[in-house]
Amino acid sequence: MSKIFAVAGKGGVGKTTISSLLILSLSKRGNVVLAVDADPNTNLEEKLGVDLEGTIGGVREDISKNIDNLPGGISKPEYIKMKIQESISEGDSYDLLSMGRQEGPGCYCYINQLLRTTVDNMADKYRYVIIDNEAGMEHLSRRTCKDIDILFIIADPTVTGVRTGTRIKKLAQEMEINVGKFILIINRSKDPVDHLNKQIEEAGFDGVEIVPDDPEIRKATERGDPLTTVPENSPAKKKIENIVVKYK
Ligand SMILES: Nc1ncnc2c1ncn2[C@@H]1O[C@H](COP(=O)(O)OP(=O)(O)OP(=O)(O)O)[C@@H](O)[C@H]1O
Ligand SMILES: [Mg+2]
Repeated sequence: MSKIFAVAGKGGVGKTTISSLLILSLSKRGNVVLAVDADPNTNLEEKLGVDLEGTIGGVREDISKNIDNLPGGISKPEYIKMKIQESISEGDSYDLLSMGRQEGPGCYCYINQLLRTTVDNMADKYRYVIIDNEAGMEHLSRRTCKDIDILFIIADPTVTGVRTGTRIKKLAQEMEINVGKFILIINRSKDPVDHLNKQIEEAGFDGVEIVPDDPEIRKATERGDPLTTVPENSPAKKKIENIVVKYK
């Protein structure tokens, strides 16, 4: 059984950054990791520094065109598995599966069901599955994986940020997503976060972590460099290492 970590939060709070650092840290420790980019505007590959081979959206289009006309001797599930495997991008010690666009008009229920089952089966082979979500929560209901061991909710270091994070937690609970632990990550903090103590306490998370604002991450982003170029002893990278050790 794999352990599923999902990363959620409002727009621009650092979901993809934190997902990438979790993926890099877990894979560096010798774990077999599947990175899932669930944001239709795929960009996890840029932060990880791998070339995108394809997307599940692309596979869906391919199948919908060819499903009644498959090459001889190949079954539908076999064809789907082959196409998904072709769309996986390979990093140093992890695989990246990008979900890509949602379906366009037309009925894709049957294909989506096949895709979901195949992705679920494939994900089982990995020790860790890390899912970088698009902003908001609604799409978590269309999630690729059944249960989430840890939902990391990313917030900026403001009262409003923590309130938004709390709303996302409530939404996940209302949607009856099976989450083992809710961990709040306050990202890009420059100062102590005492001013947030009351909100944090009321929100009832299973853990709260503070990730500092990191000039090295800013620099890498400005240059369009992957986060593999950020030094191991940079403050945010070191903090994510701690988080991985604590929650792995
Ligand atoms: N700890 C940090 N220190 C410095 N900069 C950071 C940190 N975390 C994130 N950033 C910067 O914040 C910006 C947004 O980060 P990121 O793309 O990871 O957010 P996101 O939540 O995935 O955004 P979106 O909602 O668009 O997917 C980027 O410029 C990134 O470099
Ligand atoms: Mg993102």
